[in-house]
Amino acid sequence: MSALKKPDTEAREFLFTRDDFVRIKQLIYRHAGISLSDAKTDMVYSRIGRRLRALDILSFKQYLDRLEQQNDADEWQAFTNALTTNLTSFFREEHHFPILAEHLVKLAAGKAGRPLRIWCSAASTGEEPYSIAMTACEAFNTLHPPVSIVATDIDTNVLATAAAGVYPVDRIKKMDAARVRRFFEKGTGKHDGLVRMKKGLRELIQFHQLNLLDAQWPFREPFDVIFCRNVMIYFDKPTQGKIIEKFITLMHEESLLLAGHSENFLYVSDQLQLLGKTVYKLKTNGVARSSLFTHRKTT
Ligand SMILES: C[S@@+](CC[C@H](N)C(=O)[O-])C[C@H]1O[C@@H](n2cnc3c(N)ncnc32)[C@H](O)[C@@H]1O
Repeated sequence: MSALKKPDTEAREFLFTRDDFVRIKQLIYRHAGISLSDAKTDMVYSRIGRRLRALDILSFKQYLDRLEQQNDADEWQAFTNALTTNLTSFFREEHHFPILAEHLVKLAAGKAGRPLRIWCSAASTGEEPYSIAMTACEAFNTLHPPVSIVATDIDTNVLATAAAGVYPVDRIKKMDAARVRRFFEKGTGKHDGLVRMKKGLRELIQFHQLNLLDAQWPFREPFDVIFCRNVMIYFDKPTQGKIIEKFITLMHEESLLLAGHSENFLYVSDQLQLLGKTVYKLKTNGVARSSLFTHRKTT
């Protein structure tokens, strides 16, 4: 198989063939559900090339043989981290946050006494779960809102950033000043140019690694709100369908499931209804799934 050349015929640093690309495509699909199109060839070369450089390996074939033969969990994680796309921002797709606030207040009024459960299932570097936490604080006008937020992602690097809650100040340049004062502290000295989420807000969120493709998820009780935004676009329809089926087992009649702007879950499930603005709930004539849950204490 001939080596893939850059379009300008500039020689590549590492030997990278079409077979190597196809092999990477199959491995990441099996491992993370991510479907890579041929248009991602250069992206794959550049991101996995960094692993070859770090390990002092000269060909993709050698790297992939090593990955598969040694079955080293850390290298599998580095391989996966290299191939995820983590674009996110604070209050991305802003229209969802007033809907979230209204929903939380309504549920709290009806079910006082238990924290509202929110799962942010592709949390990336944390901007989304922190936007959820800020929304909850604002909705209940307290830094201790009655919510429990779990934020997960497959990528351990982005989760470490999320848990630290430290961002370049540019990330919040469009944010309302009162919000910034309430929820962020500004870095000084060697931290100049950085902001950190205040401790109280960080403590509202539990960060865990979770692969949406895993056969078992560590949750038993339903969530009141599930954010699954801008991750399904990386999966094919059969994979989306399996994940949605599992989300459905973690929803009750009033739960909301929020998708990204270009994602449509009606194509992969007939158990959901669209409320508008890519917000879904269970169909009212669906099984009353909340009754399937015992109220055991789990994550
Ligand atoms: C483009 S970001 C979206 C972040 C955020 N939800 C938003 O809308 O701004 C997609 C995230 O999905 C994560 N991801 C990709 N495959 C995954 C999988 N199989 N399980 C869990 N997370 C996954 C990536 O690591 C990445 O952080």
